[in-house]
Amino acid sequence: MQPTPIGIDALAFAGPAHFLEMTDLAAARGVDPGKYLHGLGQKQMAIATPCEDTVTMAAEAGRRALEAFDIDPAQIGTLIVGTETGVDHSKPVAVYVHELLGLARNCRTFETKHACYGAMAGLTSSADWIAAGRARGRKALVIASDIARYGLNTPGEPTQGAGAVAMVVADRPRLLEIDRARCGDYTRQVMDFWRPLYSKYAFADGHYSIQCYLDALEGAWHDAADGDPEALASDRLAACLYHVPFVKMARKAHQKLLEIEHGDAAATDQTEARARLDASFAGKVAPWLELNATVGNIYTGSLFLALIDLLRHGRADLEGRELSLFSYGSGCGATFCLGRVAEGASRHAAALDPQPQLDVRRRLDIAAYERIMDLSEDVDTVPELDPASYGLDGGGLYYVGTREHVRRYARA
Ligand code: CAA
Repeated sequence: MQPTPIGIDALAFAGPAHFLEMTDLAAARGVDPGKYLHGLGQKQMAIATPCEDTVTMAAEAGRRALEAFDIDPAQIGTLIVGTETGVDHSKPVAVYVHELLGLARNCRTFETKHACYGAMAGLTSSADWIAAGRARGRKALVIASDIARYGLNTPGEPTQGAGAVAMVVADRPRLLEIDRARCGDYTRQVMDFWRPLYSKYAFADGHYSIQCYLDALEGAWHDAADGDPEALASDRLAACLYHVPFVKMARKAHQKLLEIEHGDAAATDQTEARARLDASFAGKVAPWLELNATVGNIYTGSLFLALIDLLRHGRADLEGRELSLFSYGSGCGATFCLGRVAEGASRHAAALDPQPQLDVRRRLDIAAYERIMDLSEDVDTVPELDPASYGLDGGGLYYVGTREHVRRYARA
């Protein structure tokens, strides 16, 4: 008898109200725009004002996922927020979200941290929680929420962004089944990207971090293959989704995947390897990178933003087809796994498409962007913040300052 499928039953994105054009950043930094647009593959990046933080984005994404997929908050038995950008050394972002979404008292709630890997850890743990029979018919809500901030005039500056992806994990999922027998893991202590307790900004050994990512892909892939590489053969997959700190990274990852499958290009015919990469990338990776290119790096949610992009196409021909997912968190930890697009998933394309939100974002000029970056440094100790002063006059939930060491949130 086939085990009951478990996977992603609902998905939603929420992000900041403002963005920066990469061409504006390039002009301000005296860099050829081709480097950001084509070298990194980015068009825009979302910028969080001081009133938009990990909690507000996570709560908004969670609310949208529950509402759009008609899920009663009382059905949620586990809430996990994966984040690199926690707001407290002790108190998890998840417990604020638990209150804001009105979840049940017997809902198990916690935060996971491993750079960009926290949400994948939450997804696989939630699937195991359901498979183990602990859920008692309930679902898990896993939310990735992050602000990627490297600082002004740093090499990482063009790879910033902000946003949250919420996913409900359940049995008989409406969107994506996770193949728990084909999940492979990788861990290795490396200093490729980290953020000390005293710093708002990430430190990164950029080129080394790319190498660490590719090594982790190879390690996790071999673990998932478990001696049977044919089980993972990308030829028969409908799509290959990756962690996307910047769009070009997905191409580097896919190149690595094909090298793992077919051997190093240096050892084979380079023209043939290049043609194979171009065709495979164009068919299985590139079509689902538009959201990553316009939102930027959202750390732990970026893999799942690519999944939203795939599903929002509403392609009925992808239903029943397998795809691969690769999550990488610096430091480092990674998982490579297979999933299957659920029958009927294409009917939910409009419900999970964040394009209407993205269409009403406002463009920042460089001066406003730099002012926001400066103000964000002290945001945890400011007693009073006015969302309207940052152009946030919508009906959203905002961080409005810290008084007597307590963070306060309010609806505009
Ligand atoms: N036109 C077109 N392309 C151009 C160009 C131009 N005018 N100028 C440069 N390029 C190309 C380069 O050839 C290069 O392409 P390839 O990688 O294919 O060779 C690309 O643009 C980038 O150029 P550089 O390597 O010279 O750029 P850089 O030295 O400024 O650094 C970076 C790039 C390392 C990604 C840097 O932005 C960085 O440190 N980012 C943060 C770290 C990061 O994102 N790491 C990713 C792996 S770790 C991870 O995934 C976890 C996470 O989320 C942080």
